[in-house]
Amino acid sequence: MPSQSKSANVKTLLRPADTAIHGIRPGAVRLTVRDLGRMRRFWTHSIGLAEIGSTGNVLQFGVGQRVLIELEHVPSAPLPPRNATGLFHVALLFAARSELADALRRVLQSGARLSGASDHLVSEALYLDDPEGNGVELYWDRPRHQWPWSDQGLKLASDRLDLEDLLGGNDPFKATSAVVPEMTVIGHVHLKVSDVAVSENWYRTILGLDVTSALPSASFLSSDGYHHHIGMNTWSSAACPTAEIGSQGLAGFELVLPAAAVNDVAERLAGKNFAHVRHDGLTVRDPSGIQIRLRETS
Ligand SMILES: [Fe+2]
Repeated sequence: MPSQSKSANVKTLLRPADTAIHGIRPGAVRLTVRDLGRMRRFWTHSIGLAEIGSTGNVLQFGVGQRVLIELEHVPSAPLPPRNATGLFHVALLFAARSELADALRRVLQSGARLSGASDHLVSEALYLDDPEGNGVELYWDRPRHQWPWSDQGLKLASDRLDLEDLLGGNDPFKATSAVVPEMTVIGHVHLKVSDVAVSENWYRTILGLDVTSALPSASFLSSDGYHHHIGMNTWSSAACPTAEIGSQGLAGFELVLPAAAVNDVAERLAGKNFAHVRHDGLTVRDPSGIQIRLRETS
């Protein structure tokens, strides 16, 4: 039996979705940016994404032909209040610890600085900010059979990560490769929301995600027993108004899921008279005003 289904079957998820939807994963994350030059340099040089293409004022970055990050260039974009809802961080998932170590070398080599480094038990993660203040996480997952599930859900610690151990004695300023490996994906998106209970309920009942771990001020949800595809917190955004549409920062993000699941979500939204646009997938704003595009698995 694959470890993925074993985890989901034998462990108790904290709050299972009423009607779970399977096969959801994050797709591209779009950021509205004012200084395209600095942002392009960061995402290519410090992170190692390739510039894949462009449409109008939107530049696409990723690996191979897969788009992971889109930068929408709006030089006059208003600055959102510091405590506005939006992106806490976008997290790039690497397939192996050695790949995370190389990602760290690219960051250090470029002169960018980390803002944090944590061992979360399920994963090891590095944190930094891009030049316009968008949070970025780089991480790899420990094997699923090592994840600490209990009846209370999944334990997600924030222990100190030993960077020297991660680098393994190799030159911290000499990355093996200038670009991220082919298997790199957006592993999760962590949001600043205005009310965790309201948002958690929406992602659970509308999108069919399961709650895997929760604090009074944060919640983590996923499909198929993953530790989390969506994180949310009110650490700086409790009861704050949503950022003005078109502000610098998160413009929206994709969730990729099977076509039948998009139909299910559309029915649930319609049943609650929740505004959405059913075109080329489905576009909706969550209770904190964050735009999500549901894209059908190709
Ligand atoms: Fe994260």
